[in-house]
Amino acid sequence: MSDPDQWEADLERRYPPAAYGEQSVSEFRNYQAATRPSVKAFYRLNHQYQTFDFVKQKREEFLSLKRRRMGVWEAMEFLNTLVDDSDPDTELSQIEHLMQAAEAIRADGHPRWFILTGLIHDLGKILCLFGEPQWAVVGDTFPVGCAYSDKVVYHEFFRANPDWEHPIYSTQCGIYQRHVGLENVMMSWGHDEYLYHVTKPYLPIEAQYMIRYHSFYPGHRENAYQHLFSEQDHQLFEWVRKFNPYDLYSKSDERPDVEKLTPFYMDLIAEFFPSQLAW
Ligand SMILES: [Fe+2]
Ligand SMILES: [Fe+2]
Repeated sequence: MSDPDQWEADLERRYPPAAYGEQSVSEFRNYQAATRPSVKAFYRLNHQYQTFDFVKQKREEFLSLKRRRMGVWEAMEFLNTLVDDSDPDTELSQIEHLMQAAEAIRADGHPRWFILTGLIHDLGKILCLFGEPQWAVVGDTFPVGCAYSDKVVYHEFFRANPDWEHPIYSTQCGIYQRHVGLENVMMSWGHDEYLYHVTKPYLPIEAQYMIRYHSFYPGHRENAYQHLFSEQDHQLFEWVRKFNPYDLYSKSDERPDVEKLTPFYMDLIAEFFPSQLAW
């Protein structure tokens, strides 16, 4: 997989709009049979290396947020320097994807914090620019420290993961109590968790959930890991589900006019965020 957007393009094939919420097992199998080799190779690496210890180490490395200080707009421009190896004519730039999601949310009349969430939701992908490999930035996320659900795409690739046979991590609840609440569960490492920590002081909890769990497809699309959900998680996942179509299906429409939209989004950013954030 040559660029981080390929995983998302692939998600769109896995969850086609018509099948929203009603995907059958056979469709899912067809998907697996037709997956591009590069995407399959990506899942193989992701599932092999996202162990409990790996996640702990990445959290220590990044969540002290001492890497740099920059504003949200600056982070958008930084992310936009991510070079995309695939077809430059059809692929949207990172800013275009973010604005497109935000514009679709705005067009549906949602509140300003929701529009802002669309605008920033993928900024955690700057991890790629810090030299992190793609399998540690994008991809479906899932809890670590407990058994990997068979609802995670390419579940069989977890056999190569050392935690697969761990006496505790391989049990259904692993190190967690039943219904412990996702805030107490370590998720596989990637752009969602990172951006959540950068932005959480400034956003309502609904937005925090959308950012933190937008790649947790096993949870919000496959209803896996329900034994770890708290009552609050169930309630707030309604917002994660509300957000998901804007992430997945707003991409193919026309390109947003970035220059024209910039003043509106700069105002929106300034309404919620200080001029500099810790990354
Ligand atoms: Fe994302
Ligand atoms: Fe996205």
